[in-house]
Amino acid sequence: MNLTLKIWRQDGPDTAGELVTYPVTNISEDMSFLEMLDVLNEELIAKGEEPIAFDSDCREGICGACSLMINGEAHGPEVTTTCQLHMRSFRDGETITIEPWRASAFPMVRDLVVDRSAFDRIIQAGGYISVKTGAAVEANNMQVPKVAADRAFDAATCIGCGACVAACPNASGMLFLGAKVTHLGELPQGQAERDSRVVSMLNQHDHDGFGGCTNIGECAAACPKEIPLDVISQLNADFRKAKKHA
Ligand code: SF4
Ligand code: FES
Repeated sequence: MNLTLKIWRQDGPDTAGELVTYPVTNISEDMSFLEMLDVLNEELIAKGEEPIAFDSDCREGICGACSLMINGEAHGPEVTTTCQLHMRSFRDGETITIEPWRASAFPMVRDLVVDRSAFDRIIQAGGYISVKTGAAVEANNMQVPKVAADRAFDAATCIGCGACVAACPNASGMLFLGAKVTHLGELPQGQAERDSRVVSMLNQHDHDGFGGCTNIGECAAACPKEIPLDVISQLNADFRKAKKHA
């Protein structure tokens, strides 16, 4: 495949950025999107030019690092992570525009890299449970209904990629937050901090500059892990209960 890439280049948070055009040739349709960018970077390095900065780690769809806005869609045209997106999802001769996540809670670092540590601060605010030290208890001592276990497990598949924020016109982090609150709130171990968790995490979310949810649903449509929109309902219900108990 031969493609034209329009890639956002920006030296740092305080400099202006712009889309720069790069042709790439002889790209296999079996390459991942990141491998295609690796090819371009090798060519840039060989020419003595600065390679394009972008994030990746696992390249297996489990770490959430590979955050790219591709043709205006978070992670591109498939419901998957950018590292699991393959070039066969594009047409030979296509022009592809690649930009970073754009949200004030995710400040620009360089080129396609943004700082997503606001998510870490939300987790620090309440994404934990009290645990007793000592030997692990026998697993069957704490029974969990299958429905609750399945819902907690599904919510726990959130990888913190930030696509929900990037896709939301309000740059809200509510789907991420709802996934974390649902994951812990469905399990017996998560009950001790259930009220304080939702209040602390929501406060941190608002403090870091994420927007509010207005039920548009772009977050769930963009989520590579298919986290459902109703985790936000669970978040709101938990918040109302926490305020009633306060
Ligand atoms: S809810 Fe989905 S889109 Fe948002 S951070 Fe988690 S995995 Fe990514
Ligand atoms: S690099 Fe880890 S999910 Fe894409």
